[in-house]
Amino acid sequence: MAQYTLNPPLNETDVPDSPRPLLEAWLADAAAVPMQEPTAMTLATVGADGQPSARIVLFKGFHQDQLTFYTNYESHKGRDLAANPRVALTFWWDRLERQVRVEGRVEKLPEELSHRYFYRRIRESQIGALTSRQSQVVATRAELDARFDDNAQRYAGTEVPRPAFWGGYGVTPALVEFWQGRHGRLHDRLQYRRSGDGWILERLEP
Ligand SMILES: Cc1cc2nc3c(=O)[nH]c(=O)nc-3n(C[C@H](O)[C@H](O)[C@H](O)COP(=O)(O)O)c2cc1C
Repeated sequence: MAQYTLNPPLNETDVPDSPRPLLEAWLADAAAVPMQEPTAMTLATVGADGQPSARIVLFKGFHQDQLTFYTNYESHKGRDLAANPRVALTFWWDRLERQVRVEGRVEKLPEELSHRYFYRRIRESQIGALTSRQSQVVATRAELDARFDDNAQRYAGTEVPRPAFWGGYGVTPALVEFWQGRHGRLHDRLQYRRSGDGWILERLEP
């Protein structure tokens, strides 16, 4: 059983007034140790029927204090978010014995941000995004590969068009909790709760 002895205490007096700088510091710590996807976060959505659904997406930076990620607007998550913009996000960094939980609301990012990010991705990813009807049932892998090859041929030598169904979301946090493993299961939990323009900092029992 893990003993959680890696971290020094997480003290109220040592943390910033708002969660963003602390999250950025923890992301930088995660990026500095060998792990495959330090920006991976679980995104939980709720469908129109009240059914929760969760999957991993990659955090792609802040936009005006929103946490951003990119996806297909017509996917399962995209449909959930069109019906209900409330989400939860969770980061877990095993090697750091740290978790961050976020609750908030999403909005679609401005088109120009989605555009810019789309064209920063490698060409295969652009063609993949154009090809995939994310979350739809497909009869065979071969059908998907054939559609990818068609698109690769169609746009050979030219710019791959960014489909209108692909883009980013920004999550405006209302609650951000920083969890750090501590010895004896008395882990540290500091929670920032939005209050007007500022944040209330509270310690939660582990
Ligand atoms: C490490 C990792 C990173 C991922 N990053 C993304 C991402 O940034 N955007 C995305 O749409 N899907 C990403 N996925 C795939 C999603 O987990 C999921 O399969 C896909 O978005 C479809 O989800 P949905 O059917 O619930 O909409 C990632 C999966 C893994 C394992």
